[in-house]
Amino acid sequence: MNDTPRDTPPPAVSPPGERRRLESIQAGTDAFTTGIIDGLGLPDDAACLELGAGAGSVARWLAAHRPRGRVTAVDIDVRHLDPGGPHRLDVVRADITDESFAPGRFDLVHARFVLCHLPSRDALVARAARWLRPGGWLVVTDPYQLPADTSPFPVVRRLMEAYRQGCARAGTDLTWARSLPALLAGAGLSPVEFAGRPACMGNGDKDRWRVLVEQAAPALLTVPGFTPADLDAFRAHLADPAFVDIPQITLAAWARRPPAA
Ligand SMILES: C[S@@+](CC[C@H](N)C(=O)[O-])C[C@H]1O[C@@H](n2cnc3c(N)ncnc32)[C@H](O)[C@@H]1O
Repeated sequence: MNDTPRDTPPPAVSPPGERRRLESIQAGTDAFTTGIIDGLGLPDDAACLELGAGAGSVARWLAAHRPRGRVTAVDIDVRHLDPGGPHRLDVVRADITDESFAPGRFDLVHARFVLCHLPSRDALVARAARWLRPGGWLVVTDPYQLPADTSPFPVVRRLMEAYRQGCARAGTDLTWARSLPALLAGAGLSPVEFAGRPACMGNGDKDRWRVLVEQAAPALLTVPGFTPADLDAFRAHLADPAFVDIPQITLAAWARRPPAA
């Protein structure tokens, strides 16, 4: 995926459950994200760029809240990206790692749960900073996985270790988010601010992991040490009201390109 040229069509069939996975991510994180963006004081006519827009909830929220602005939603796979609503939203299919991708200048560049998957993530933070107008904001959000072996639940220790290994195999770094403040500062942006939100596993209908684990199950079961019995045990835990855990922290960091003098 990471090296897919811009003009290569995505596979004809989405991975099973991809739409549900994207919606689950949105349901679990949108309030955190929109709270941060709300606090930036963007102008009413802000030009906004949403990188790896997924199913598009943040892009649509931006468009709805900045009717005099412009929102560009970019994804390598736009099949789930519904422009929806009466507001202006430009949908662009592009690979953001492509050096020829030059989207212009924006008051806000936002990327959530996308950069940690890309090998060129450090360089992409620096490039995204160059897509800002003077005074513009870069906001990046990614997961930071807590050490699997500190879970109070043995099955979660095995599950989250398999998850970490599976992600690492695919090129995803689940600890990279810790670098975000330093990367933003290194890109010449300031002041750097950051916030975290614990992710919820279990806890009845507050759970956000059932869908992610079901979609990842085929890959997880190829990791030594994680078995079909573990998967069944995890499913059984989800039905137990006493099952609640924090497998990851969602970390967001944001900073501003210095305004023009
Ligand atoms: C985990 S989803 C997150 C979606 C959305 N940002 C959210 O948080 O709801 C990651 C998204 O990044 C997109 N993506 C991955 N690699 C990409 C690339 N190289 N260029 C553009 N989009 C990419 C995927 O297609 C997917 O929609």
